[in-house]
Formats: sequence, C-alpha cells, structure tokens
Amino acid sequence: MELTLVSSSSFKHSLFSTTPYSSSLRSSRALVINCCHSSKPRKSGKDVVIRGSVQYQEKLEVLKSMEGWVEDNILTLLKPVESSWQPQDFLPDSSSSSAEEFFDAVRELRERAAGIPDEYYVCLVGNLVSEEALPTNQSMANRFDGANDETGASATSWAQWNRGWSAEENRHGDVLTRYLYLSGRLDMRQVERTIQHLIGSGMILHEAHDAYRGFVYTSFQERATFVSHGNTARHAKERGDITLARLCGLIAADERRHETAYTRIVEKLFELDPDNAMRAFAGMMRERATMPGLLMFDGCDRDLFRHYSAVAQRLGVYTTGDYADIVEYFVKRWRVEDVGPGLTGEGRRAQDYLCGLPQRIRKTVERAQERSARESRLLPFSWIFNREVLV
Ligand SMILES: [Fe+2]
Ligand SMILES: [Fe+2]
Repeated sequence: MELTLVSSSSFKHSLFSTTPYSSSLRSSRALVINCCHSSKPRKSGKDVVIRGSVQYQEKLEVLKSMEGWVEDNILTLLKPVESSWQPQDFLPDSSSSSAEEFFDAVRELRERAAGIPDEYYVCLVGNLVSEEALPTNQSMANRFDGANDETGASATSWAQWNRGWSAEENRHGDVLTRYLYLSGRLDMRQVERTIQHLIGSGMILHEAHDAYRGFVYTSFQERATFVSHGNTARHAKERGDITLARLCGLIAADERRHETAYTRIVEKLFELDPDNAMRAFAGMMRERATMPGLLMFDGCDRDLFRHYSAVAQRLGVYTTGDYADIVEYFVKRWRVEDVGPGLTGEGRRAQDYLCGLPQRIRKTVERAQERSARESRLLPFSWIFNREVLV
C-alpha cells in the first residue's frame, strides 16, 4: 500500500510527500517525505553518484558481490506458494455446492461490514488502490541497476527476489478488492477508475536507477505499509469484522517480512560500502520520495491522495508521528551514529544530517498535528458514493 500521511490544506510536509507531477494533479500541494523540510524539492546533488562514474561502477560491483548473500539471507524470507495464504481463504466460495451457501456467506460478510464507519472504508480503499498499483512498484524495483531482472525470468538471486516479492504482494490488492466489492459499501466503479488512473500515471522516484537509494525507499515503504495495514486490522477487530481484521493482519505480516528483507539489504550495504550507503540514505531523505499512491485520482478530486492521507492521519491509521517513528527506527537500525571508518567528507556530512533528522522531524510533526486539528472539515469521497467524511 501505501502509506501516506497527511493533513490539512496548509500542511505542506508529510511523510511520503507529494508534488503535483501530472497535469491532472496540478493543484495538488506537495507533501514531503521529510516532514521537516520545505515543500520545494531539495537538491541533494552531493549525495548523487553519477551513473557511469567509477564510483557508480563500484556500487554495481558491491551489488554483484552480494548475489550469494541474497540467496542465503533474502530469498529465504519468501514463503513457498504452497504454504502461502490466498485471497480465496477469506472470501465466500462461489463454487459452493449450493448457491444458497454462497449467498449466506455473502450476507454474513455484508452484515459484518455494516459495522464499519465510512471513514475506515476511505482508508481501506486508499490502501487497496496503492496495492493495486503493483505494476508500478514492480517496474520501479526493476530499474535498480545491479539488482534488476534483465530478462524477465533471470536466474540471479536479485531477480528471483523481485519476482517473488511481487508475487506475494499481488495477493494484497486482490483480497482487499474482492472483499470490499462483496461488502456492498463502495462505489466500485469509482474505485476501479482510481486504480486505472494511478497505474496510468505511475510514480516518481528520484535517482530511480540507484539501487542503494531504492532499497532505502523500499525499506521505508514496507515498514509504513506494515504500520498502516496493522492499524486497519486493529480497527476492523474493534468494530467486529474479525475476517477483515485477519486478512489485514496477514497483509501486515507480509509487509513486515518484506521490510525485514529490504532492511537487511541496506544493513549489508552499510557493512560493505558505508560511505555510499550513508549518502544514499541521506539523499533519499533530502529528496522527495513520493509514495506509489501519490498520483491517485478518481476523476473528481484532484487532491485525493492528500485527502485520503488526512483521513488516515485523523483515524490513526497512518500518521506523521508514525513517519517520525520510522525515520528514528531506521537511523538506529542501521547504526548511523556508529559508522566510523570508511566515510568521506560527504559521508560524514550525510551522517551528521541523518543523526539530527529524527529530532527535527518530531518538532515539525507537533506543529503539523496542531494545524491539522484546527483545519479539519467535511469532504465527499466518490469511493463511498460522495458521502462526507471529516478530513
Ligand atoms: Fe502490499
Ligand atoms: Fe509491501
């Protein structure tokens, strides 16, 4: 999914930020990955390693040298298909011997769904739409130089991971879409239009060919989706839809496993190539890292991502505080402070920047939350037949 964040009309800084990239979104206001920075794109030229340079070539060598390590430490995190859950495990069985059995199961699902307020459906649909943009995500991962799938069926461990990860992710959008379709609570045509718009619009990741940055980005993305799906599961349980809670919980568990994989990869990069890893982490935080759902559009609301994010913020499904926690977590997890030998001057500057970042973000988050609370208002969402929700 995706993850997101954010808030009121004047809240310029959010987690995974957003900028008006397409003409259909000209009016969107930017939300930035690093809450503490201005909404204008920052230049992080000093953290960029030029493609084709000797230094860049060295990065490719490091990635190549990790092939065997990926096989032993990352591919083992994928679950065999035979022991994986499938969407059908949570859905009424349309092949039931009696049609009545199927209809009864659908009726039960709809009764459970009736207890969930509209605003939670907005969060669920936002998550669903982001998951359904998987083609965009897979192509993103396939642009990482040195860690891509060159033929589409390459036998390298990097390529096997990319395909296995996508195959696991594919179940997330599938199960949410089918479950929510049967709930009868949504204008599915609007949901489907949003998915088509989003895949057609794509996403932007600066320095997208740089695998070092890419793995920092995917680490963040997976942890953010873990938090978001986990909170959605908790809300569904509190409102009595145990099946929805269970399936969101299983999606969250997948995201956690994927986060473990990407986090381990970055940890290894810090071990093998600390200077470039440090600069990639800082570069990703300084630049805009746009979430896959950023360009979502339903044909009506040009600020849809921001509005959905604001609902997620208000309900505690995914908040600016979560974002600050994630940044702090990774600064500690990758032991940024402790990295000593192997850093160049630029690497040291990147380290200083990163060490102070969690605190700077915390300050901004408090101000943003206060502003957001002051400026809340009702807004219609086409996904729920234009019923209004507090944003
Ligand atoms: Fe997912
Ligand atoms: Fe994921």
